[in-house]
Amino acid sequence: LTQLTPNLPLAHQHVLVTAGGTREAIDPVRYISNRSSGKMGYAVAQVAREMGADVTLISATDQLPVPVGVHLVKVASAAELLTAVNAAFPTTNLLVMAAAVSDYRPVQSADQKIKKPADHGDLTLQLTETPDILKQLAPQKTSQYVVGFAAETQHLLTNAQRKLTQKRLDLLVANDVSKPGVGFNGDTNQVTLLRPNQEPVKTALLSKIEIARTILTTAVAGGAVKA
Ligand code: CTP
Ligand code: CA
Repeated sequence: LTQLTPNLPLAHQHVLVTAGGTREAIDPVRYISNRSSGKMGYAVAQVAREMGADVTLISATDQLPVPVGVHLVKVASAAELLTAVNAAFPTTNLLVMAAAVSDYRPVQSADQKIKKPADHGDLTLQLTETPDILKQLAPQKTSQYVVGFAAETQHLLTNAQRKLTQKRLDLLVANDVSKPGVGFNGDTNQVTLLRPNQEPVKTALLSKIEIARTILTTAVAGGAVKA
C-alpha cells in the first residue's frame, strides 16, 4: 500500500542550526570575519525542514535566501550567537553548529571610526578570545544530539578527533578547507564524519544539499530522535 502521509524522519523535532561567519566589530564601519558563506548551514536548515523538523536557523549572514518554513534569528558577533544558542538550546532536540565562529574579537569596538595615525605608523589591534559555544554547552546537555563542524587545512583526522572529544559531540563533520570545491565557498563539499567510538566515514564530493542529507540521516541513525 502507498503511504499517503509518510512519517517524516524529523517530525516533531526541534532542530537548531547555526550558519555563516560571525562579524566582530572594530569600529562602526569595520569588522573581523572569515570566508564562511553560510551555504552548508542553510542547506542543513532546508533539508531538516524537508525531513519534517521545526527548524530555527541562527544566521550570521544575510547573503542567502532563507529556506521556506524556517524560523530565522539574525546575529552578527560570536557573543550574539552565544546568547541566541543558549536561549534556544533547552528546547532543542538536534543542534547543528555549522557557523564559523570568530575565535577572537577586538578587545574594544571603537565608538567612532578609527582614523589613520597622524604619523602613518602601524596600527595594532588587540584581540581577545571569544567563548567556545559548543564547549560551554556540553555541561548543559540533557538529551540533545549535538553536531559540530571542523574546518582544517592540515592534520584533518587528528584535529577533528580532538574536537569531537573536547566538545563532547555526537557527530563531527570535518572539512579539509584547503582543497578546491571543499568547505567554505561554492555549492559542493566533501567531508569526513566522526562519531565517538566509530571509524570515520569519508563522503564523496557532493552538493551541500546532499551533504546536509547525509549529516541528518547519520544523526537520525545515531539516535538523534528519541522515542
Ligand atoms: N565553535 C564554537 N565556538 C567558538 C568556535 C567554534 O562553538 N568560539 C564551534 C564551531 O561552530 C564548530 C566547532 O566549534 O562547530 C569547531 O570549530 P573550529 O573553528 O573548526 O574549531 P575551534 O575549536 O575553534 O579550533 P581551531 O579554530 O583552533 O581549529
Ligand atoms: Ca575556530
